[in-house]
Amino acid sequence: MEKLEQLYEGKAKKVFKTDDPKLLIVDYKDDATAFNGEKKGQIAGKGAVNNVMSNIIFQLLEQKGVPTHFVEQLSQRETVVKAVKILPLEVIMRNVSAGSFAKRYGVEEGIVFDQPTFEFSYKNDDLGDPLMCESHALALKLATAEQIETIKKYASIVNETLKEFFLDKGLKLIDFKIEFGLFDGEVILADEISPDTCRLWDVKTNEKMDKDRFRRDLGNVEETYQEVLKRVQK
Ligand code: TMP
Repeated sequence: MEKLEQLYEGKAKKVFKTDDPKLLIVDYKDDATAFNGEKKGQIAGKGAVNNVMSNIIFQLLEQKGVPTHFVEQLSQRETVVKAVKILPLEVIMRNVSAGSFAKRYGVEEGIVFDQPTFEFSYKNDDLGDPLMCESHALALKLATAEQIETIKKYASIVNETLKEFFLDKGLKLIDFKIEFGLFDGEVILADEISPDTCRLWDVKTNEKMDKDRFRRDLGNVEETYQEVLKRVQK
């Protein structure tokens, strides 16, 4: 597998072509942004943590029946993935109130929901990734009704699988964001699942063990990413 020219550089990853048009190489960066890129920084070691952790989780999800873009880890930061067309919908599920949910509805963080919530954001940086209802996604033809049903089914499996997986590591899965893409016309899970894209609270102390440490200047950012990877690898 040859790493060819860079195709794209995002906020947290670079994407390279390979000699196989169906495969890409993602290279995870230590760059961190928050609030739609307004806040910028670096988290030393984050790229490796997010790469290795995403790959462990994607392999687990494959076993649970969720197809993913994962092909092969090349190094601590680099992974071969299937070349998907990303659907411009961020899929967010929540088990406990936090973040924009708490802010939007004027409630405290930490309310445990009877049922998980499911929402879309329109993946569009110029608009600040606004919350989007399903009928608007259909109206704009961002996905078909059938693709949305598949996304909902897979997202529920991701939530159930990861709730149990993280609990076993002493972490509560508060909420998460996932992205899907099309590969040979089929919906598959893409992007990453990491402390950048999940909220994880320590089971005993409720300490925040995710990117909120960076977003909110809580300190011990690097140490927390390393601790999460250590627990995930156990
Ligand atoms: P929110 O409470 O800010 O809407 O975030 C919900 C979840 O989505 C949380 O686990 C963090 C994750 N997330 C991303 O992965 N990318 C983003 O750009 C944002 C805003 C949130």
